[in-house]
Amino acid sequence: MPKLSIKDLDLKDKTTFIRVDYNVPLSPDGKEITSDKRIRASLATIQYALEHGSGVILASHLGRPKGKPQPTMSLKPVAARLKELLGRPVAMAPDSVGPATAAMRPKPGEVLLLENLRFHPEEEANDPEFSKQLAGLADVYVNDAFGSAHRAHASTVGMVSYVPLAAAGLLMDKELEWLTRATKNPERPCIALLGGAKVSDKIEVIQNLLRVVDKLLVGGAMAYTFLRAQGKTTGRSLVEEDKIPLAARLLEMAGAKLELPLDHVVVQEIRPGADHKIVTEIGADQIGVDIGPKTVEAYTRTIAAAKTIIWNGPMGIFEMPPFDKGTVALAKAVAQSGAVSVVGGGDSEKAIKTAGVADKITHISTGGGASLEFLAGVDLPGVAVLTDKAAAAL
Ligand code: 3PG
Repeated sequence: MPKLSIKDLDLKDKTTFIRVDYNVPLSPDGKEITSDKRIRASLATIQYALEHGSGVILASHLGRPKGKPQPTMSLKPVAARLKELLGRPVAMAPDSVGPATAAMRPKPGEVLLLENLRFHPEEEANDPEFSKQLAGLADVYVNDAFGSAHRAHASTVGMVSYVPLAAAGLLMDKELEWLTRATKNPERPCIALLGGAKVSDKIEVIQNLLRVVDKLLVGGAMAYTFLRAQGKTTGRSLVEEDKIPLAARLLEMAGAKLELPLDHVVVQEIRPGADHKIVTEIGADQIGVDIGPKTVEAYTRTIAAAKTIIWNGPMGIFEMPPFDKGTVALAKAVAQSGAVSVVGGGDSEKAIKTAGVADKITHISTGGGASLEFLAGVDLPGVAVLTDKAAAAL
């Protein structure tokens, strides 16, 4: 990677500040963590820093508390889970800045978790004074929060102006490595599976991926907007009427690269267990909820021949079985393909888990928004500011 890595730093007897992404889902009362995936994903970097003689300060946001302390968005439950996973004490700071927090500076081998950065409006405002205070807590800055790399906030961007070197953590390195491998000079055929509800959410992703991939297989409700642009009927399916001209332009740009569903699972009413049919043309009173078996067969053939697969977004209303069938079938096909497979976005990840094939996927990104922006070709601000390896060698 062109950016400095934690492995390039001397960490001995230093206090290392690691920006992590602990924006984890919590129960409504804010007491239980419902998925600790992001906490587990941060362990390698923390352990690396501890093993190399550092005291570790961890900093993250959680939720969108609008610049005020909110008890239901405290990072305290994360400290408890982290302690279990690390098998060592994790001290919890009362705040992310201030004298009480500064006084808790961890010694080598100790871990301190700061309270939610977004309890201060200065975090999202990328405020220089707040950035300086955060930088003052430690000697070394590491960003391991790939999931927040698309945010130009104090802890992801501002702080970098007040530290001598800014390095990527091991998770950040891994995320960038796989996403880069899949999109820059990938092994071919390289294909993308793109689903989800709206074309408007993924315009830049489609435009950018069309430059990279050999085939773009489209599913989910966004397929209906494209079908309408081709003059096909979509009944009462979700269509972004105002995006039909845009979909037509994208189809023209894509030519034969972009493939749309050949058949559909349709219902009269969206509810679990609703009566459904398979059709090739959607009737006036029907709603498309999944790709049909012919589409699964055709897409599976393309997937089986691919050497690189990028996947973002489900193929249907996968959270409402049996309308998860198409998505689950494609997840299995991706797993069996033997291709390098990179999956981004929470929904695609859930589908991979439902299919029980998570261990056969090369890389499941921890960043929903960040991976989407990466796929759209955006230079992520939290990555752009990290020290270039070449500059650090000077
Ligand atoms: C995420 O979960 O995508 C990141 O943690 C960023 O969170 P945000 O969308 O609230 O900035």
